This record gives sequence, structure tokens and C-alpha cells, in this order.
Amino acid sequence: MTRFITHFESAIDGTTFPADQLQTWHANRPLWSRYDLDAIRKAVTPDEIARRPANMWRYRELLPVGDDITPISLDEQMTPTVACPNFSKHFGLNHVYVKDESRLASCSFKARGLSLALTMARHFGWQRVAMASNGNAGGAMSIYAARGGMEAFVLVPKGTPKANVSECLQSGAHIFYGDGLIDQCGKIIREGHNRKLWFDISTMKEPYRLEGKKTMGLEIAEQFKWNLPDVILYPTGGGTALIAMWKAFKELRELGWLKSSKMPRMISVQSTGCMPLVEAFKNNSRHCERFANTNTIASGLRVPQGIGDFMVLDAVRESGGMVIAAEESRLFEWQKLMASKEGVMLCPESSTCVGALEELVSRNEVSAEEEVVIFNTAAGQKYMDYFQPKIDELSLEHFDWDRVIAQLPTPAFASK
Ligand SMILES: Cc1ncc(COP(=O)(O)O)c(C=O)c1O
Repeated sequence: MTRFITHFESAIDGTTFPADQLQTWHANRPLWSRYDLDAIRKAVTPDEIARRPANMWRYRELLPVGDDITPISLDEQMTPTVACPNFSKHFGLNHVYVKDESRLASCSFKARGLSLALTMARHFGWQRVAMASNGNAGGAMSIYAARGGMEAFVLVPKGTPKANVSECLQSGAHIFYGDGLIDQCGKIIREGHNRKLWFDISTMKEPYRLEGKKTMGLEIAEQFKWNLPDVILYPTGGGTALIAMWKAFKELRELGWLKSSKMPRMISVQSTGCMPLVEAFKNNSRHCERFANTNTIASGLRVPQGIGDFMVLDAVRESGGMVIAAEESRLFEWQKLMASKEGVMLCPESSTCVGALEELVSRNEVSAEEEVVIFNTAAGQKYMDYFQPKIDELSLEHFDWDRVIAQLPTPAFASK
């Protein structure tokens, strides 16, 4: 058996914990996974990785699994980094890409973390997992639990998209749907964990999901030929993937696998409907105040206060990035801009990144030749609840032939 993880380390005070036991958190704050990077450097090269199957397990040396553990997997394929020339031109830029995570199982980036976390929980003997979720994570946990023959319990606040609720229900999870916000649901899940009813897999309350999300950063590095892009825009709730990508880049730098010393500016993006990190960044604080009145259709961003807030803010500051709020009322407009220019259907969470890019460009914070990556963290199609009013605006009169014809522009071929 080969495993390169050496130990876990508290992100708040550095206390260490053994890697051969299932870990959770410490002092109510997350843990980092630490690896023997010298041993990894000797054991594998980027060229060897490039010859492996194109899924997230190709980076297994940089994950807490050893080669003796069978993953609970739905074949987590590398997601494409789609060049967006028309969209780039709209902003006077030349190199904007979308890393399209909607191609994964559960149509969201949550697949990566949940595949890994359930693998580890099952490996260490747990058959039952639980979480508080705003939707996509609960849905992903439920489908991976079904895949791994495990039992799942999910608490989701009212207003969670129907697509997520249906994933939980149909894959056999026990789902509770009620009033409250995610941190309130989280307290109940924790109580059950403390009573040993289940393993709590909620955001940042165990260290494994973070490592699964790290593969987003590893893929970006590999897809950019081991040079990193200049700017990464990430829609942030609890911030797991932003923290994880920054960790990935630092590990790659230490491994010596990066071809240049350039690190991306990490841009954390929130909606004006829930922006605790924006306030903390502005006030130069390391922790957030609780943002009480969340009001955003981007359900994944309804996190009033994340327990890894300081890890997000540290990563953003270290990278020379920033935290930006995008105007909630413009999310559909930005979604439409990307979909109509490139055919990529961003989720509302990621539509905030278009707003953030607009602001960066207007402030001359990004230049035309810089490489910019927007993360599409889930399929826009999962959010049809919020789209219903737009559908209602369409009138059946559209089937009236004379009106249809009257609205048509002159056909392009007729102009010759
Ligand atoms: C689609 C989507 N994007 C972004 C996020 C935010 O992720 P994180 O909590 O890791 O910041 C979520 C979280 O639920 C999500 O579902």
C-alpha cells in the first residue's frame, strides 16, 4: 500500500492529527491534509499522470486515498476548460475560459468532494453520512451514498432548488426540508454526529471534501500545461473550492511541477444578497460577521458565515486577489450573456462571476492578454424554479402563425 498523506493539521492553531484515523475538525475549525511532497516528487511525474485515465483519480498521490482503497466513484472525468472568444471580446479581453463543472455526476462540482469524502468515511467503517446543504452538496452526497451502498441524511432549508431535492429523494436519502438557514441545519447534523448517529460530512467539517475539490486546481494546472492562468473567478459560499485550489497551486509549486512562478489572483465572488466575505475583506478582518438576511437565487451562496472564512480570506489576500459582490438583480442578465455568446449555461452562482469580471474590467484590474478562468460550478438547468416567471412571460400567442411571422427578421439569405 502506498499513501503519501502524513497527517492532518488544524488550520486555526496547527495541532496535528494522525492520517490513519477518520478526522473531522478541531476547535470548530477545519483541518488541512498534509503530504510527503518529497516522496511524491520521487514517485510520480506530470508526464506519468498525463498517461493515466482522464479522471480525478489520476492525481491519487495528492489525495488521502492509498492505492488499497477502492473509490466510490461515478467516473469523475476531467471537466473541459472551454475557450470563450465571443464572450471575451464583449469585455475587450482575449482569453476568458469557463471550467465547466456541470459535466460531472450530479451536474455540479460537488461530485469531486463527495466522491472522496464518502470513500474515506466508508473506508473507516461508517455506513451512514449526513449533512446540512443548500442543495447541490446534499444531492451529490445522496447519489454517491447510493453508489457506495451507504445511508444518507440531508437537511436542506426551504427554497432549495427542486432539482436538488429530487436527487436526494430519488437516490433514497432521508431528506428533511424546513425553515432556517444552512448554519442552523448544520447544528442539528453536528448534534447527530456527536451522538454517533452518523458521520457529519457538512462543508469543511471534515478534511476530505476539500482534497477532492483540490483536483479542480490540479486539472487547471495540467490543462494550462503546468502554467497557471492569471485570474480565477470562483462563486463563494463556504469557499471550499477556492481554498482547495489555492492549496493545490501551493503544493504544485513546492513539488516543482509548475513551469513558471506565476500564481493566479483568486477572486472570490458573492451576490449582494449574501456577502459576508465582501464585508470582511473590506474591513480587513480575518473572520466574517454573520450575514443574517440572505436573499439570493444562487442557493449555493446562501452561507451567512462559513467556518473556513479565514482560509478563504487568507488565500485571496496571499494571491493578490479580492472579494467582489455582484448585483443580485442582474444574475439572469449575466447568465444570458454567457449562454447567448457561447452556449454555456452558467448556474446563478457562477453568473455572479460575469458581474465580477465586468467590475474588474471597468476598474482596469484585468488586462486584455491575461488568462481568466470562470468556474461554472453547476448546470444552470438545475435552477428552473427561479426561471418559471420568465417562462410565464412567454405567451401562447407565440403559436399564432401571423404573429410569429411578423416578429421574424428578414432571413439572411434573402439579402443577396
Ligand atoms: C453551484 C454552487 N456554486 C458554488 C457554491 C459555493 O461553494 P462553496 O461553499 O465551496 O464556496 C455552491 C455550494 O453549495 C454551489 O452549489
